Amino acid sequence: MNTQKFYVTTPIYYVNDKPHIGHAYTTILADVLTRFHRGNGEEAFFLTGLDEHGQKVQQAAEKRGLSPLDHCNDLAPRFLQLWEKLEIQYDDFIRTTQSRHIKVVQTILQKVYDAGDIYMDEYEGWYSVSEERFITETEKDSGEFRDIKNLKERNWFFKMSKYQQQLIDYINDHPEFIQPQHRRNEILGFLRQPLGDLCISRPKSRLNWGIEIPFDKDYVTYVWFDALINYISAIGYSGDENKFQQWWPASVQLIGKDILTTHCVYWTTMLFSLKLPLPKTIFAHGWWLTGETKMSKSLGNIVNPLDLIDEYGVDPVRYYLMREMVLGQDASFTIESFIKRYNSDLANDFGNLLNRVSGLIGKYFDGCIPEVKELTPEDCEVKKVASALKEKVANLVNDFHVNEAIEEVLILVRQVNKYLELQAPWKTVKEDLERTGTILYVTAEALRVSAVHLFPVIPSRSGKVLAVLGAQGTNVSWGGLKPGTKLQAHEALFPRIEIEKT
Ligand code: MSP
Repeated sequence: MNTQKFYVTTPIYYVNDKPHIGHAYTTILADVLTRFHRGNGEEAFFLTGLDEHGQKVQQAAEKRGLSPLDHCNDLAPRFLQLWEKLEIQYDDFIRTTQSRHIKVVQTILQKVYDAGDIYMDEYEGWYSVSEERFITETEKDSGEFRDIKNLKERNWFFKMSKYQQQLIDYINDHPEFIQPQHRRNEILGFLRQPLGDLCISRPKSRLNWGIEIPFDKDYVTYVWFDALINYISAIGYSGDENKFQQWWPASVQLIGKDILTTHCVYWTTMLFSLKLPLPKTIFAHGWWLTGETKMSKSLGNIVNPLDLIDEYGVDPVRYYLMREMVLGQDASFTIESFIKRYNSDLANDFGNLLNRVSGLIGKYFDGCIPEVKELTPEDCEVKKVASALKEKVANLVNDFHVNEAIEEVLILVRQVNKYLELQAPWKTVKEDLERTGTILYVTAEALRVSAVHLFPVIPSRSGKVLAVLGAQGTNVSWGGLKPGTKLQAHEALFPRIEIEKT
């Protein structure tokens, strides 16, 4: 039995507005990884959710004339609807306004306080309202922060500085901890400067939308200290010890590159203080851009890839996002590249293979999968490449090269299209029906193996291919197709997108 377990998290998203491509992307990625690990027989747990406290959410609610909680309750279903549309199979969806989370945050604050890692101090410094945190002089001068004001306030501080050396040593000893490599270097660079302590409270007189500090009723918890705890409150920390032990530490915590420090420094030092193990990997992906600019609602430059779902279905959008982004780098979204990718990989290569094979089996074998007889070297070559995919894909996915893993499957699909061309069953059928059957079995079987491999990325259309072949529930091992099975009728899997010439 495979006893491996896989626990993956996404950031929890701010409920300022309706969900956008950034939210959808990480969540699809987590879904693909989860489906992939489940397919390998591992137990998996996939957590996502919403970050509902803090100033940004409070301001967004005020703008709409709603209480913060009413505002969150109104927007939360939009995220759930999008996850449904995107075929996201999460195991838990946490909202930081839920009492199960609030209880754990307060327990942790008390624990860290009792351990002597929280103290009160007066602080005067620059505060970025948009980032919701105190910033250094250098950060202020960098021009990257908006809404800066000088604040003098008494607040509660977490002794983050105490764990600086422990964190540096940990990163040096665990090369897989922060990925990709250039983000690890970025954090090590950041840690070359003395690490300050973290201000973890906000006076209620200034901001009251947050979790009350259990040992000081005049303050609420700083939103990041609250939000990061979701990764353990959802799996039963200080409530359901068995569940917590089953899943923590996380296998992968997926984040965008802009929230690297909060995860790699704030979160990890919090875990040190709680004497909990760190996640195996924190992986920071890049941004989706339009041209050279980050896609963002405030910039008004969105050709929303999510709008393409209604026109082309969810699978092409999932496929494009997973195939086009090299994990760790930025990627550029354009409608032209979407159509190009769709037509070449999905319509011409994968979809067309199904069309050809079902058409030929329909014509020569009454639509029933033929018997497979002796294999020629050409047949063996297809079988060899198809069988080698399992290990190749697993290694690539485990190394976060999801785009390359997909490409490996497409290499097989293209090879099989070529094989069919060269073996020409429409010629062999004239004198050798048995050989024709073997060619079509090998082709259909390679298609089945490809569909199983692509299942985590395009679950609904891959599922369709498997249904047509009567092979639902089969795995990637060669030989899953049963001769004699009647193929189901089907429509074009990915109808070509014809671009109107103007
Ligand atoms: N609430 C915090 C995270 C707390 S986790 C304990 C937050 N929320 S967010 O809604 O602003 O952003 C969520 C994620 O979306 C971030 O990882 C961010 O990198 C990602 N993206 C936002 N725009 C993006 C793109 N254009 N492309 C890809 N991802 C980007 O930060």
